[in-house]
Amino acid sequence: MTEPDQDHRHPDRPALVLAAEESARIREFPLSCEPGVGRLLAVLAGAVPTGGRILELGTGAGVGAAWIASALARPGDVAFTTIERDADLAAGNTELPWPDGIDFRIGDNEELLPTLGTFDLIFADAAGGKWTGLSDTLAALRPGGILLVDDMDPTRATHPDHRQALDAVRTTLTTHSDLLTADLPTAGGMILATRRR
Ligand SMILES: C[S@@+](CC[C@H](N)C(=O)[O-])C[C@H]1O[C@@H](n2cnc3c(N)ncnc32)[C@H](O)[C@@H]1O
Repeated sequence: MTEPDQDHRHPDRPALVLAAEESARIREFPLSCEPGVGRLLAVLAGAVPTGGRILELGTGAGVGAAWIASALARPGDVAFTTIERDADLAAGNTELPWPDGIDFRIGDNEELLPTLGTFDLIFADAAGGKWTGLSDTLAALRPGGILLVDDMDPTRATHPDHRQALDAVRTTLTTHSDLLTADLPTAGGMILATRRR
């Protein structure tokens, strides 16, 4: 959920982000990433080198994608793919003023992931590819690549099944021999990971 007052110390959000947030509000989509997550996504996307690749799992109403797209200086220098399985949601996202070159996919993360190759930055923000199918997400992370997993604060997981899934993901990430991880307590809690080179 977007909480604009948490963002008051920063300059204005990019126009595309504001448009996506407004679109999410009108469509009553409650699961967009918070500004603290979006700003981190923008920093990470801005650090992906020319020729690099970014993947978002779960486009939602496009807020996270808007942060990423706004951070890319020259469209096409970095390839950006985002996947959403809800066709109505994805259709609504086409109304936003995206820069050219973004690869919007409608489908299931777990079905598409093994077909997409590897990435420098992955934002895992959907059930598929996070609560289930995490191994395919990790397989798609290049050496030196960054994985950002949102909504990892255990205190926000009130349902036992959700808490169990969250704990399993947390354990997989923090004990994985190929990963370096850090907990970021911002917003809904994130885990930031990189694959060892
Ligand atoms: C938390 S929202 C995404 C928010 C968005 N990333 C942002 O930053 O604003 C999660 C989205 O993932 C989608 N989703 C859930 N499971 C999925 C799957 N297996 N494949 C593709 N999309 C999925 C949901 O429909 C929902 O729109």
